[in-house]
Amino acid sequence: MKIAVLKERKEGELRVAATPDSIKKFIALGATVTVETGAGNGAALTDEAYRAAGATVETELSTCTQDADIILKVREPEKEELMLMPEGATVVGMLDPYGKKDEFGGYKLKKLTTFSLELLPRISRAQAMDVLSSQSNLAGYRAVIDAVGAFGKVVPMMMTAAGTVAPAKALILGAGVAGLQAIATAKRLGAVVSAFDVRAVVKEQVESLGAKFIEVAAESGEASGGYAKEMSEEYKQKQATLIKDTLAKQDLVICTALIPGKPAPRLITEYMVKGMKPGSVIVDLAAASGGNCALTELDRVVEKHGVTLIGFSNMPSRVSVDASQLYARNVFQFVSTLLMAKDGTASINWEDELITGTLLTRGGETVHKNFI
Ligand SMILES: NC(=O)c1ccc[n+]([C@@H]2O[C@H](COP(=O)([O-])OP(=O)(O)OC[C@H]3O[C@@H](n4cnc5c(N)ncnc54)[C@H](O)[C@@H]3O)[C@@H](O)[C@H]2O)c1
Repeated sequence: MKIAVLKERKEGELRVAATPDSIKKFIALGATVTVETGAGNGAALTDEAYRAAGATVETELSTCTQDADIILKVREPEKEELMLMPEGATVVGMLDPYGKKDEFGGYKLKKLTTFSLELLPRISRAQAMDVLSSQSNLAGYRAVIDAVGAFGKVVPMMMTAAGTVAPAKALILGAGVAGLQAIATAKRLGAVVSAFDVRAVVKEQVESLGAKFIEVAAESGEASGGYAKEMSEEYKQKQATLIKDTLAKQDLVICTALIPGKPAPRLITEYMVKGMKPGSVIVDLAAASGGNCALTELDRVVEKHGVTLIGFSNMPSRVSVDASQLYARNVFQFVSTLLMAKDGTASINWEDELITGTLLTRGGETVHKNFI
Protein backbone atom coordinates (compact mmCIF):
# COMPACT_ATOMS: atom_id res chain seq x y z
CA MET A 1 0.00 0.00 0.00
CA LYS A 2 1.31 3.43 -0.92
CA ILE A 3 0.39 6.38 1.28
CA ALA A 4 0.94 9.97 0.09
CA VAL A 5 1.10 12.96 2.43
CA LEU A 6 0.45 16.30 0.73
CA LYS A 7 1.45 19.83 1.64
CA GLU A 8 -1.63 21.82 2.64
CA ARG A 9 -2.36 24.61 0.17
CA LYS A 10 -5.15 26.55 1.89
CA GLU A 11 -4.08 30.02 3.00
CA GLY A 12 -3.12 30.05 6.67
CA GLU A 13 -3.14 26.23 7.01
CA LEU A 14 0.08 25.22 8.74
CA ARG A 15 -0.89 21.72 9.85
CA VAL A 16 0.17 18.46 8.21
CA ALA A 17 -1.65 15.11 8.18
CA ALA A 18 1.30 12.85 9.07
CA THR A 19 4.40 13.25 11.24
CA PRO A 20 7.66 11.27 11.17
CA ASP A 21 6.26 9.28 14.13
CA SER A 22 3.02 8.32 12.40
CA ILE A 23 4.93 7.52 9.20
CA LYS A 24 7.24 5.13 11.06
CA LYS A 25 4.14 3.29 12.27
CA PHE A 26 2.66 3.07 8.76
CA ILE A 27 5.95 1.70 7.44
CA ALA A 28 6.08 -0.84 10.28
CA LEU A 29 2.71 -2.11 9.00
CA GLY A 30 4.21 -2.63 5.54
CA ALA A 31 3.16 0.59 3.77
CA THR A 32 5.43 2.83 1.70
CA VAL A 33 5.05 6.56 2.29
CA THR A 34 5.79 9.58 0.08
CA VAL A 35 5.70 13.10 1.44
CA GLU A 36 5.49 16.26 -0.66
CA THR A 37 8.47 18.48 0.03
CA GLY A 38 7.81 21.15 2.63
CA ALA A 39 4.64 19.42 3.87
CA GLY A 40 5.76 19.69 7.50
CA ASN A 41 7.36 23.15 7.36
CA GLY A 42 4.45 24.86 9.11
CA ALA A 43 4.56 22.35 11.94
CA ALA A 44 8.35 22.43 12.53
CA LEU A 45 8.83 19.09 10.72
CA THR A 46 11.63 19.05 8.15
CA ASP A 47 11.91 16.98 4.97
CA GLU A 48 14.99 15.49 6.62
CA ALA A 49 12.95 14.25 9.59
CA TYR A 50 10.48 12.59 7.20
CA ARG A 51 13.34 10.94 5.29
CA ALA A 52 14.86 9.72 8.56
CA ALA A 53 11.49 8.14 9.40
CA GLY A 54 11.64 6.15 6.15
CA ALA A 55 9.49 8.26 3.81
CA THR A 56 10.47 9.34 0.29
CA VAL A 57 10.24 13.10 -0.10
CA GLU A 58 9.04 14.24 -3.55
CA THR A 59 9.39 17.74 -4.96
CA GLU A 60 6.62 17.32 -7.55
CA LEU A 61 3.02 16.89 -6.43
CA SER A 62 2.38 14.59 -9.39
CA THR A 63 5.18 12.22 -8.36
CA CYS A 64 4.05 12.29 -4.76
CA THR A 65 0.49 11.21 -5.61
CA GLN A 66 1.46 8.79 -8.42
CA ASP A 67 0.07 5.27 -7.71
CA ALA A 68 -1.01 6.34 -4.20
CA ASP A 69 -3.66 4.12 -2.63
CA ILE A 70 -4.37 6.46 0.27
CA ILE A 71 -3.83 10.24 0.29
CA LEU A 72 -3.67 11.93 3.68
CA LYS A 73 -4.83 15.52 4.01
CA VAL A 74 -5.76 17.96 6.74
CA ARG A 75 -8.26 19.96 4.64
CA GLU A 76 -10.28 19.16 1.52
CA PRO A 77 -8.13 18.90 -1.64
CA GLU A 78 -7.73 21.93 -3.88
CA LYS A 79 -8.53 21.54 -7.61
CA GLU A 80 -4.85 21.29 -8.50
CA GLU A 81 -4.43 18.39 -6.04
CA LEU A 82 -7.60 16.64 -7.20
CA MET A 83 -6.43 16.73 -10.81
CA LEU A 84 -3.21 14.94 -9.86
CA MET A 85 -4.79 12.22 -7.77
CA PRO A 86 -4.83 8.72 -9.26
CA GLU A 87 -8.27 7.49 -10.28
CA GLY A 88 -9.88 5.37 -7.58
CA ALA A 89 -7.59 6.55 -4.74
CA THR A 90 -8.81 6.95 -1.17
CA VAL A 91 -8.62 10.37 0.48
CA VAL A 92 -8.72 10.85 4.25
CA GLY A 93 -9.03 14.32 5.79
CA MET A 94 -11.34 16.93 7.26
CA LEU A 95 -13.18 17.54 3.99
CA ASP A 96 -15.75 20.05 5.31
CA PRO A 97 -18.63 18.29 3.49
CA TYR A 98 -21.34 20.67 4.75
CA GLY A 99 -19.44 23.69 3.45
CA LYS A 100 -18.00 22.12 0.29
CA LYS A 101 -20.82 20.11 -1.32
CA ASP A 102 -19.75 21.52 -4.69
CA GLU A 103 -16.45 19.63 -4.51
CA PHE A 104 -18.16 16.26 -4.64
CA GLY A 105 -18.06 16.69 -8.44
CA GLY A 106 -14.25 16.47 -8.34
CA TYR A 107 -14.43 13.29 -6.26
CA LYS A 108 -16.81 11.79 -8.83
CA LEU A 109 -14.59 12.75 -11.74
CA LYS A 110 -11.62 10.97 -10.17
CA LYS A 111 -13.73 8.07 -8.79
CA LEU A 112 -12.32 8.82 -5.33
CA THR A 113 -13.29 7.12 -2.11
CA THR A 114 -13.35 9.90 0.47
CA PHE A 115 -13.55 9.82 4.26
CA SER A 116 -14.35 13.01 6.15
CA LEU A 117 -13.09 12.66 9.69
CA GLU A 118 -15.20 15.47 11.19
CA LEU A 119 -18.19 13.16 10.72
CA LEU A 120 -16.89 10.41 13.04
CA PRO A 121 -19.61 9.34 15.46
CA ARG A 122 -18.56 10.37 18.99
CA ILE A 123 -18.57 6.85 20.43
CA SER A 124 -15.88 5.45 22.72
CA ARG A 125 -14.35 3.22 20.02
CA ALA A 126 -13.70 6.34 17.94
CA GLN A 127 -12.09 8.42 20.68
CA ALA A 128 -8.50 7.92 19.53
CA MET A 129 -9.53 9.02 16.01
CA ASP A 130 -11.70 11.95 17.06
CA VAL A 131 -10.19 14.88 15.14
CA LEU A 132 -12.90 17.29 16.27
CA SER A 133 -11.99 16.67 19.89
CA SER A 134 -8.23 16.87 19.41
CA GLN A 135 -8.44 20.05 17.33
CA SER A 136 -11.24 21.78 19.27
CA ASN A 137 -9.41 21.19 22.53
CA LEU A 138 -6.44 23.14 21.15
CA ALA A 139 -8.77 25.78 19.66
CA GLY A 140 -10.32 26.36 23.10
CA TYR A 141 -6.87 26.83 24.61
CA ARG A 142 -5.64 29.15 21.87
CA ALA A 143 -8.86 31.21 21.95
CA VAL A 144 -8.15 32.18 25.55
CA ILE A 145 -4.50 32.96 24.77
CA ASP A 146 -5.60 35.20 21.86
CA ALA A 147 -8.23 36.89 24.05
CA VAL A 148 -5.65 37.59 26.75
CA GLY A 149 -3.17 38.89 24.13
CA ALA A 150 -5.70 41.45 22.94
CA PHE A 151 -6.76 42.44 26.48
CA GLY A 152 -5.11 45.51 27.93
CA LYS A 153 -5.25 44.26 31.51
CA VAL A 154 -3.87 41.33 33.48
CA VAL A 155 -5.97 38.24 34.17
CA PRO A 156 -5.16 37.08 37.73
CA MET A 157 -5.75 39.00 40.93
CA MET A 158 -2.55 40.80 41.90
CA MET A 159 -1.93 42.26 45.33
CA THR A 160 0.90 44.77 45.06
CA ALA A 161 2.26 47.64 47.15
CA ALA A 162 0.63 49.98 44.65
CA GLY A 163 -2.76 48.39 45.17
CA THR A 164 -4.80 45.36 44.24
CA VAL A 165 -5.72 44.39 40.69
CA ALA A 166 -9.04 42.57 40.48
CA PRO A 167 -9.10 39.29 38.51
CA ALA A 168 -10.55 39.34 34.99
CA LYS A 169 -13.97 37.80 34.43
CA ALA A 170 -14.35 35.31 31.60
CA LEU A 171 -17.55 33.91 30.13
CA ILE A 172 -17.50 30.79 27.96
CA LEU A 173 -20.55 30.21 25.75
CA GLY A 174 -20.89 26.53 24.88
CA ALA A 175 -19.19 23.97 27.11
CA GLY A 176 -18.31 21.23 24.60
CA VAL A 177 -14.75 20.23 23.86
CA ALA A 178 -13.46 23.73 22.95
CA GLY A 179 -15.47 25.37 25.72
CA LEU A 180 -14.27 23.06 28.50
CA GLN A 181 -10.63 23.63 27.52
CA ALA A 182 -11.29 27.39 27.36
CA ILE A 183 -12.71 27.20 30.90
CA ALA A 184 -9.69 25.25 32.15
CA THR A 185 -7.22 27.63 30.45
CA ALA A 186 -8.93 30.79 31.72
CA LYS A 187 -9.02 29.30 35.24
CA ARG A 188 -5.31 28.43 35.07
CA LEU A 189 -4.57 32.05 34.15
CA GLY A 190 -6.50 33.21 37.21
CA ALA A 191 -9.78 34.48 35.71
CA VAL A 192 -13.13 34.21 37.45
CA VAL A 193 -14.94 31.97 34.97
CA SER A 194 -18.57 31.30 34.22
CA ALA A 195 -20.00 29.20 31.42
CA PHE A 196 -23.26 28.62 29.68
CA ASP A 197 -24.56 25.69 27.66
CA VAL A 198 -28.02 24.50 26.62
CA ARG A 199 -27.15 20.96 27.76
CA ALA A 200 -27.75 20.87 31.51
CA VAL A 201 -25.69 17.65 31.73
CA VAL A 202 -22.45 19.63 31.34
CA LYS A 203 -23.12 21.56 34.57
CA GLU A 204 -21.13 19.04 36.60
CA GLN A 205 -18.15 19.18 34.21
CA VAL A 206 -18.17 23.00 34.24
CA GLU A 207 -18.28 23.09 38.03
CA SER A 208 -15.56 20.46 38.38
CA LEU A 209 -13.25 22.86 36.49
CA GLY A 210 -14.02 25.54 39.09
CA ALA A 211 -16.35 27.65 36.92
CA LYS A 212 -19.89 28.84 37.63
CA PHE A 213 -22.60 27.29 35.46
CA ILE A 214 -25.21 29.76 34.27
CA GLU A 215 -28.59 28.15 33.83
CA VAL A 216 -31.68 29.31 31.99
CA ALA A 217 -34.46 26.91 32.90
CA ALA A 218 -35.27 23.26 32.76
CA GLU A 219 -35.37 22.45 29.05
CA SER A 220 -32.82 19.86 28.12
CA GLY A 221 -30.87 20.78 25.01
CA GLU A 222 -29.32 17.35 24.59
CA ALA A 223 -30.08 15.47 21.39
CA SER A 224 -28.68 12.08 20.42
CA GLY A 225 -24.92 11.45 20.22
CA GLY A 226 -24.06 14.04 22.88
CA TYR A 227 -24.79 17.00 20.59
CA ALA A 228 -27.13 19.91 21.26
CA LYS A 229 -30.54 20.33 19.63
CA GLU A 230 -32.25 23.53 18.55
CA MET A 231 -34.13 25.22 21.42
CA SER A 232 -37.68 26.69 21.64
CA GLU A 233 -38.34 30.43 21.05
CA GLU A 234 -39.31 30.93 24.71
CA TYR A 235 -36.03 29.39 25.83
CA LYS A 236 -34.06 31.52 23.37
CA GLN A 237 -35.63 34.71 24.79
CA LYS A 238 -34.85 33.81 28.40
CA GLN A 239 -31.32 32.85 27.31
CA ALA A 240 -30.84 36.21 25.56
CA THR A 241 -31.79 38.20 28.68
CA LEU A 242 -29.49 36.14 30.87
CA ILE A 243 -26.56 36.41 28.44
CA LYS A 244 -27.05 40.19 28.06
CA ASP A 245 -26.97 40.75 31.84
CA THR A 246 -23.94 38.48 32.28
CA LEU A 247 -22.00 39.96 29.35
CA ALA A 248 -22.14 43.45 30.84
CA LYS A 249 -19.89 42.25 33.68
CA GLN A 250 -17.32 40.31 31.60
CA ASP A 251 -13.81 41.10 30.35
CA LEU A 252 -13.18 38.05 28.15
CA VAL A 253 -15.80 36.09 26.22
CA ILE A 254 -15.12 32.88 24.30
CA CYS A 255 -17.93 31.71 21.99
CA THR A 256 -18.01 28.01 21.10
CA ALA A 257 -21.73 27.22 20.75
CA LEU A 258 -22.49 24.84 17.92
CA ILE A 259 -25.09 22.48 16.53
CA PRO A 260 -23.34 20.32 13.90
CA GLY A 261 -24.30 21.06 10.29
CA LYS A 262 -26.39 24.12 11.26
CA PRO A 263 -25.54 27.83 11.23
CA ALA A 264 -24.03 28.85 14.58
CA PRO A 265 -26.67 29.95 17.13
CA ARG A 266 -26.67 33.76 17.36
CA LEU A 267 -26.17 34.38 21.08
CA ILE A 268 -24.67 37.90 21.16
CA THR A 269 -26.40 40.78 19.34
CA GLU A 270 -24.98 44.23 18.60
CA TYR A 271 -27.15 45.63 21.39
CA MET A 272 -25.49 43.24 23.85
CA VAL A 273 -22.00 44.22 22.63
CA LYS A 274 -22.91 47.90 23.21
CA GLY A 275 -23.67 46.99 26.82
CA MET A 276 -20.23 45.47 27.41
CA LYS A 277 -17.30 47.13 29.19
CA PRO A 278 -14.89 49.02 26.88
CA GLY A 279 -11.67 47.06 26.48
CA SER A 280 -13.31 43.67 26.76
CA VAL A 281 -12.60 40.98 24.17
CA ILE A 282 -14.78 38.43 22.37
CA VAL A 283 -13.19 35.45 20.58
CA ASP A 284 -15.79 33.82 18.33
CA LEU A 285 -14.77 30.27 17.46
CA ALA A 286 -18.02 29.85 15.54
CA ALA A 287 -17.01 32.58 13.04
CA ALA A 288 -16.77 30.12 10.11
CA SER A 289 -20.37 28.99 10.56
CA GLY A 290 -21.77 32.51 10.87
CA GLY A 291 -20.62 33.45 14.36
CA ASN A 292 -22.22 33.30 17.81
CA CYS A 293 -21.79 37.08 17.84
CA ALA A 294 -23.51 39.28 15.23
CA LEU A 295 -20.49 41.58 14.86
CA THR A 296 -17.79 38.95 14.29
CA GLU A 297 -15.90 39.29 11.01
CA LEU A 298 -14.42 36.11 9.59
CA ASP A 299 -10.63 35.86 9.99
CA ARG A 300 -10.38 39.44 11.20
CA VAL A 301 -9.74 41.28 14.44
CA VAL A 302 -12.05 44.30 14.65
CA GLU A 303 -13.06 46.76 17.34
CA LYS A 304 -16.72 47.63 17.69
CA HIS A 305 -18.30 49.75 20.44
CA GLY A 306 -15.01 49.57 22.35
CA VAL A 307 -14.96 45.74 22.28
CA THR A 308 -12.31 43.75 20.38
CA LEU A 309 -13.79 40.91 18.30
CA ILE A 310 -11.58 38.07 17.08
CA GLY A 311 -12.94 35.78 14.35
CA PHE A 312 -10.10 33.44 13.41
CA SER A 313 -11.52 30.43 11.58
CA ASN A 314 -8.48 28.20 12.01
CA MET A 315 -7.36 28.30 15.63
CA PRO A 316 -5.74 24.83 15.57
CA SER A 317 -3.36 26.09 12.87
CA ARG A 318 -2.24 28.78 15.33
CA VAL A 319 -0.82 25.94 17.42
CA SER A 320 0.16 23.92 14.36
CA VAL A 321 2.93 21.87 15.99
CA ASP A 322 0.72 20.17 18.58
CA ALA A 323 -2.33 20.24 16.31
CA SER A 324 -0.39 18.27 13.65
CA GLN A 325 0.97 15.76 16.17
CA LEU A 326 -2.52 15.01 17.52
CA TYR A 327 -4.20 15.05 14.11
CA ALA A 328 -1.57 12.68 12.69
CA ARG A 329 -2.22 10.24 15.56
CA ASN A 330 -5.98 10.43 14.92
CA VAL A 331 -5.40 9.75 11.21
CA PHE A 332 -3.06 6.84 11.91
CA GLN A 333 -5.63 5.24 14.22
CA PHE A 334 -8.38 5.65 11.62
CA VAL A 335 -6.38 4.32 8.68
CA SER A 336 -4.60 1.49 10.50
CA THR A 337 -7.69 0.11 12.25
CA LEU A 338 -10.39 0.74 9.65
CA LEU A 339 -8.75 0.79 6.22
CA MET A 340 -5.91 -1.76 6.65
CA ALA A 341 -5.62 -5.37 7.70
CA LYS A 342 -2.91 -6.39 10.20
CA ASP A 343 -0.55 -7.28 7.34
CA GLY A 344 -0.82 -3.74 5.92
CA THR A 345 -3.04 -4.61 2.93
CA ALA A 346 -6.24 -2.72 2.14
CA SER A 347 -9.23 -4.01 4.07
CA ILE A 348 -12.46 -2.18 4.80
CA ASN A 349 -15.57 -3.40 6.58
CA TRP A 350 -18.11 -1.26 4.71
CA GLU A 351 -20.79 -2.01 7.32
CA ASP A 352 -18.77 -0.63 10.26
CA GLU A 353 -20.56 2.43 11.69
CA LEU A 354 -17.29 4.39 11.78
CA ILE A 355 -16.93 3.73 8.04
CA THR A 356 -20.55 4.51 7.15
CA GLY A 357 -20.40 7.58 9.39
CA THR A 358 -17.39 9.10 7.61
CA LEU A 359 -17.59 7.72 4.04
CA LEU A 360 -18.66 10.55 1.72
CA THR A 361 -18.04 8.97 -1.69
CA ARG A 362 -17.22 5.42 -2.74
CA GLY A 363 -15.58 5.12 -6.15
CA GLY A 364 -16.77 8.68 -6.77
CA GLU A 365 -20.47 8.07 -5.97
CA THR A 366 -21.88 10.00 -3.00
CA VAL A 367 -23.02 7.44 -0.42
CA HIS A 368 -23.27 9.37 2.87
CA LYS A 369 -26.90 9.69 3.94
CA ASN A 370 -26.54 13.39 4.81
CA PHE A 371 -25.36 14.35 1.32
CA ILE A 372 -27.33 12.17 -1.13
N1 LIG B 1 -12.27 28.85 14.90
C1 LIG B 1 -11.61 27.71 15.01
O1 LIG B 1 -10.47 27.62 14.70
C2 LIG B 1 -12.29 26.51 15.58
C3 LIG B 1 -11.60 25.34 15.94
C4 LIG B 1 -12.28 24.26 16.54
C5 LIG B 1 -13.65 24.39 16.72
N2 LIG B 1 -14.28 25.53 16.31
C6 LIG B 1 -15.71 25.75 16.50
O2 LIG B 1 -15.93 25.85 17.89
C7 LIG B 1 -17.23 25.43 18.16
C8 LIG B 1 -17.23 24.37 19.27
O3 LIG B 1 -16.57 23.18 18.86
P1 LIG B 1 -16.61 21.91 19.80
O4 LIG B 1 -15.79 20.87 19.16
O5 LIG B 1 -16.33 22.34 21.19
O6 LIG B 1 -18.12 21.47 19.65
P2 LIG B 1 -18.99 20.66 20.70
O7 LIG B 1 -20.13 20.08 19.94
O8 LIG B 1 -18.15 19.79 21.53
O9 LIG B 1 -19.50 21.84 21.63
C9 LIG B 1 -20.44 22.78 21.24
C10 LIG B 1 -21.22 23.13 22.47
O10 LIG B 1 -22.13 24.19 22.16
C11 LIG B 1 -23.30 23.95 22.89
N3 LIG B 1 -24.40 24.71 22.33
C12 LIG B 1 -25.13 24.46 21.22
N4 LIG B 1 -26.07 25.41 21.05
C13 LIG B 1 -25.92 26.28 22.08
C14 LIG B 1 -26.59 27.47 22.45
N5 LIG B 1 -27.60 27.95 21.73
N6 LIG B 1 -26.19 28.10 23.58
C15 LIG B 1 -25.16 27.60 24.30
N7 LIG B 1 -24.50 26.48 24.01
C16 LIG B 1 -24.86 25.83 22.90
C17 LIG B 1 -23.47 22.45 22.79
O11 LIG B 1 -24.37 21.95 23.76
C18 LIG B 1 -22.05 21.95 22.97
O12 LIG B 1 -21.75 21.72 24.33
C19 LIG B 1 -17.79 24.98 16.83
O13 LIG B 1 -18.51 26.06 16.25
C20 LIG B 1 -16.58 24.65 16.02
O14 LIG B 1 -16.83 24.73 14.62
C21 LIG B 1 -13.63 26.57 15.75
